[in-house]
Amino acid sequence: MTAATRQFLAAIRSGRIGVGIWGCGHIGASALFHLAVAGVRCFGYDVSPERVRAIAEGRFLTTEVTHPAPPAVTPDTTTAPLRIHASTDWRQMVDHRIGLHLVCVPTDRGRDPSAAALQEVLPHICAVIKEGRAGQRQADGPSFIVIESTIVPSWLDSLVLPTVRESGLTLGDDVHVGAAPRRDWFSGETHTLRTLPRIVGGTSPEATERLAAFYSLICNTVCPARDARHAALTKVVENALRYHGITFANALAVALPHYDTAHVLELASTKWNIPYYHPSLGIGGHCIPLAPRYLISEAGGPERIELVQQALDFNAGYFERLYLTRLKTLLSGHKRVGVLGLAYTPDARMEKLSPAYSVIETLKEAGCCVQLHDPYYSCQEIKALAGVEGFNFPQDLPNFDAVVLVTAHAPYLNEDIACHIAPHAVIIDNFGTWRHRTFPESVTYYEIGAG
Ligand SMILES: NC(=O)c1ccc[n+]([C@@H]2O[C@H](COP(=O)([O-])OP(=O)(O)OC[C@H]3O[C@@H](n4cnc5c(N)ncnc54)[C@H](O)[C@@H]3O)[C@@H](O)[C@H]2O)c1
Repeated sequence: MTAATRQFLAAIRSGRIGVGIWGCGHIGASALFHLAVAGVRCFGYDVSPERVRAIAEGRFLTTEVTHPAPPAVTPDTTTAPLRIHASTDWRQMVDHRIGLHLVCVPTDRGRDPSAAALQEVLPHICAVIKEGRAGQRQADGPSFIVIESTIVPSWLDSLVLPTVRESGLTLGDDVHVGAAPRRDWFSGETHTLRTLPRIVGGTSPEATERLAAFYSLICNTVCPARDARHAALTKVVENALRYHGITFANALAVALPHYDTAHVLELASTKWNIPYYHPSLGIGGHCIPLAPRYLISEAGGPERIELVQQALDFNAGYFERLYLTRLKTLLSGHKRVGVLGLAYTPDARMEKLSPAYSVIETLKEAGCCVQLHDPYYSCQEIKALAGVEGFNFPQDLPNFDAVVLVTAHAPYLNEDIACHIAPHAVIIDNFGTWRHRTFPESVTYYEIGAG
């Protein structure tokens, strides 16, 4: 580590340099939380007063929604001396000696990449840096703009760097730019910001070295990328790889319904270089379903990366195909359907592009009466988000002649389900969560992909 990087790190540790977080949602709030727990002075800015109030009150979205609460990483945040200031007014950052600006704003709209929020905050960040540098000592080196949000990598050249230039800042002298994409899986304690290897890249080797030093304050393993563009591309490629793996598993499930493809894929994964992908009800979430679109945008159009477009096309009609090839027959005569799980990931309040939506829509169109339960959403929220009534779990389960288990939330794992399932009911299990349960003989149990 160079002397300059050591000095930079010392300035952060001492609080001489603070860190500004732009966008305090899942990604920004958890960055704030982990940095503050590491003793870093932080300023969180968000357009949403509700988000700012939550942060100011010590409520951090992701640590709040993980279940069970991880005691090791969730101290009593109302009493822990976290140095966090939160505001809806970004101009206040000028007075808070912010040397690193972490951009955590949304970068998608629906299923498509969108740079709108990034375009909004970048000129503000440059204004804060410019004003701050005019009034402060420069001994700690250039400020940083680090994109933690998932981006089309070429946005760095087409959007971030031009904004820096147009603001009158000089790259390398006034400001370094970097990318440090996030990989967190906000479910359980295994894949956290601290434990997941962190890819970081800057616009120069010096910038990359300082970023690696900075992120080592909160991440056990930091992997420097060749530069910021390669760091940003890594996020998109790893998600697109996963998208392809899951798509392949789902394609097998509909093409070979007379096989237990879940079993075959599990056996295949015993080969040293093959990951395990389980066929499922569909691909949900903030990241994986969008990755192909970031990649297509980076490649310059679908015709430049046809395989990715084909995977997107397959997934667009996937649930309907699964329904027609397998589920329609299973559900024949079973019209009262209880769906368990709106979130796409267990024990987190995240419903973006959840396969539960396709399940509900298709079954309603097929004339079923569908109700939904999710322990992380109220009945009013379920109605507003999914357009169906909620129900009580497990008490209401006997009312249904079909149950679709979408999400393996802890209550669904812990409860003795069998005694609540109506005789002759059909169970459709997304990932085989209840595979080893014993159900009454009249009950039909089906795990997606299992023949
Ligand atoms: N949630 C995940 O699992 C996850 C994982 C890895 C990467 N990401 C990426 O991280 C980024 C942020 O995702 P998230 O899940 O935190 O989103 P989020 O919706 O939870 O949070 C975004 C926050 O940004 C705020 N915001 C929106 N526009 C703003 C603006 N112009 N100025 C300031 N604040 C603004 C919103 O009010 C919200 O609080 C996205 O690029 C996403 O793809 C998310």
